[in-house]
Amino acid sequence: MKLTFVSLSLALGLVLTGPVLGAGDNVEINPPAEGSVNREDGLAAWDRIYEVASHPRCANCHTGADNRPMWSGPSYGRARKHGMNVNAGESRIGAEFVLCSTCHAYRENLHDVPHAAPQVAMNWQLAPVEAEWFGKSSEYICNQLRDPERNDGRDYLALAEHLDHDLILHWAWNPGGGREPAPYDLQSHVNDILVWGVAGYPCVND
Ligand code: HEC
Ligand code: HEC
Repeated sequence: MKLTFVSLSLALGLVLTGPVLGAGDNVEINPPAEGSVNREDGLAAWDRIYEVASHPRCANCHTGADNRPMWSGPSYGRARKHGMNVNAGESRIGAEFVLCSTCHAYRENLHDVPHAAPQVAMNWQLAPVEAEWFGKSSEYICNQLRDPERNDGRDYLALAEHLDHDLILHWAWNPGGGREPAPYDLQSHVNDILVWGVAGYPCVND
């Protein structure tokens, strides 16, 4: 299932052209030298990572075991569960009910229409339950993201590569329809992941 998701995004990234950013060729992955980042700088990078991870454009999909996406952020008014009773099921793609891709397909003409379903040229779906971020503290997300048991075995380089290959992330910084983009930009976010990793993945509670 995870493999399908990744290979699909890679395949689509290769054939897509036009206004949507392709995946896999937009950021440079240049980690600082081993041992060159101290804890303080690592924690400062983590604070910026948390600002991104907890932002509605990211956290709305990183929800927990009730399998419900969130609608939150200024363009949604008050924070609430996704309308129309949408439920992603354990499949996290809505296979048990209505597939997310029924509405979240890729129709370029809908990209900038307020309140249209966000359109991305890959399977729209919730993040794994282990990566639940919505409403979670900086300390909680920090510990999850450095735990191979809960982050799909990714070290900081694998996290950085995942970020570049994922079209959903490119959408989060260019969400259209009057939505607020995630803070900073993809390259800065990837740089922060590398700095945090080289610093030894510090979290405030260590
Ligand atoms: C019947 C159509 C429909 C289906 C099915 C659907 N969505 Fe949506 N979704 C929407 C619409 C419309 C919006 C935007 C609402 C707005 O901006 O007011 C939206 C917005 C979202 C958002 C908020 C994105 C953001 O941060 O701006 C998330 C997250 C989301 N959907 C996840 C899902 C997931 C996961 C599924 C499958 C389980 C799903 N949706 C199925 C129509 C749908
Ligand atoms: C449409 C829903 C959706 C949105 C929006 C979204 N993600 Fe995700 N995220 C996923 C899915 C699905 C996965 C699992 C993908 C995989 O493992 O290949 C995932 C996995 C991740 C992972 C791997 C973490 C782990 O512990 O496994 C990171 C890091 C991540 N997302 C970061 C972000 C960031 C940063 C944003 C906002 C800029 C964001 N995501 C927005 C759906 C989403």
